[in-house]
This record gives sequence, C-alpha cells and structure tokens, in this order.
Amino acid sequence: MRMESTAVADYNRIKVTPTTGTIGAEISEVDLRQLDDELIAELDHAWMAHKVLFFRDQDLSHQQHIDYGKAFGELDIHPFIKTVDGHPEIIVFESDPEKFSAAEEWHSDVSFQECPPLGSILRGRTIPAHGGDTCWANMELAYELLDDKTKEEIDGAYAIHSYVKAFGSGMSEEKKEAAYEQHPDQKHPVVRTHPVTGNKILYINRIFTLTIDGMTPLESRELRYRLFDQAKIPEIQTRFRWEPNSIAQWDNRCTQHYAVPDHGGHHRRVERVTLVGDQPF
Ligand code: SIN
Repeated sequence: MRMESTAVADYNRIKVTPTTGTIGAEISEVDLRQLDDELIAELDHAWMAHKVLFFRDQDLSHQQHIDYGKAFGELDIHPFIKTVDGHPEIIVFESDPEKFSAAEEWHSDVSFQECPPLGSILRGRTIPAHGGDTCWANMELAYELLDDKTKEEIDGAYAIHSYVKAFGSGMSEEKKEAAYEQHPDQKHPVVRTHPVTGNKILYINRIFTLTIDGMTPLESRELRYRLFDQAKIPEIQTRFRWEPNSIAQWDNRCTQHYAVPDHGGHHRRVERVTLVGDQPF
C-alpha cells in the first residue's frame, strides 16, 4: 500500500507528526491566531501531503476560526445546517440523542453541490468524556485498492448526488421542492482527479450518492454499497480523539469522514467552516 510522505525536514515553522502511514498528521508548535504567508504555505504543503491535519489547544474566537479558514480560500455557506449567531460561515454540529445526524455516517461534505467543498476546518467545543471521535479515510487509497474489474466498471461512470437523504427527511413536500429547485441533483464522476496532486479518487459516499447514472437504483445498489465500503478499510483510516479547542482540517476532495456516535447521549458540540471547491472532473 502506498504510504504518505513522512518527511519533516522540509518544515521550518511547524512540527509535522504523521498519525498513520496512510493519512493524517498532527501539527504542533503553531498558533493559528498568528498567521503569515510562510506559515500558511507550510500548512498547505503538509495538508496536501497528509490530507487531514490535527491541532491541539487552539483557543480561537469565532472570527479567528473564520480568518484561519479564509487563509485557504473562500468560505462556503451551508444551505441546511444551523449556524453560530452572527457568523453564517460557521455551522454547528450539536449532539441530539433523539436525532440521526448525517455526520454519523461515512461521507464527504456537501457533495450535492455543483462545486463541492475543497476542505473543512472543524473545531472541538464541548467534548464528551468518552467517545465522539471522528475517523477519516484516504479515498485515493480506497480507489487504488479496488480490483481491476471494478476499476474498469467505474471508469468514466457518473453518480447522482442529492441533499435529500441527509437533509430532506424532516421537510414538508413544499419545502423539499423549494430546496430541490435551489439544489438539484448533481452528476459527479465516480472517479475524480485531484486538482493539485493529479491522483485518482473514489468519489462516492453513503449520505449523498443516490445512484449511478444510467442504472436504476436497484441495479446500482450492489456496486454503490461495495464502493461505499472501501472507506471502512482500517489501513486507510486515521481516528481523532477530540479535546476542546482541537482542530481537524481535511481535504474534502480526497477523504471521507465519520463522526462515531458512541458518546452515549453525552453532549458534544463541534463547529465547522467549509471552503468553496471546484467542480469535480
Ligand atoms: C462533519 O461531518 O463535518 C462533522 C464531523 C464530526 O462531527 O465529527
């Protein structure tokens, strides 16, 4: 299996400690309130190399969270998830034992948009004493590990992504229709290419991908579920134990993540800014 670069010698401003040989790195000796071009360039380099970066003890105000996100590009405004008062760029994930959260399933963020996010930056606020970790999977390796027959089967295929499964269930028919007008189904390649690295990525996820174009939902079901399950391979994953003021920053184009719902009803709140991305190709 292809391992990620574990070189640390190239960094002058940050310490980069990989969390596994395939995805993720903890970044230390950095204060994300003090940004400059050289620091952002090093963080960006580490981000592209490791796909998910983790930081501890970053006591950011809401505005500093937004500013940190903006250092990597324009911020997206999520159409459905509640936001922090006065800061529409920051969405809130707050646990509710009575309600299923779309984050509690393997997914990449907002793939129902024509241009899904480039990346997301999630900050821990209220963290349960146990449980509530988040896992990420390297979807480039998920693609590489497919057998040749499956690779042939999905070469040139497109899939349909929709908001409806994750966000449509509590909506009236009228509201659903209005939302659908603003967010019609999107067709994305099942295998996309990373615009920076040129690597191939398996781009299909359990929450937003409804079917494979040209197949009925029933026909595509077996293939989709086989592809979804690639994210579950332990060797391509990293897992993060949250603390208040921890930050996770992921490349949304080539990873999926899963918020593990094992905190037994204990309160968990995390907040995210999301970076506008390009149309997958
Ligand atoms: C998300 O999907 O962005 C939230 C993940 C989490 O709650 O850990």
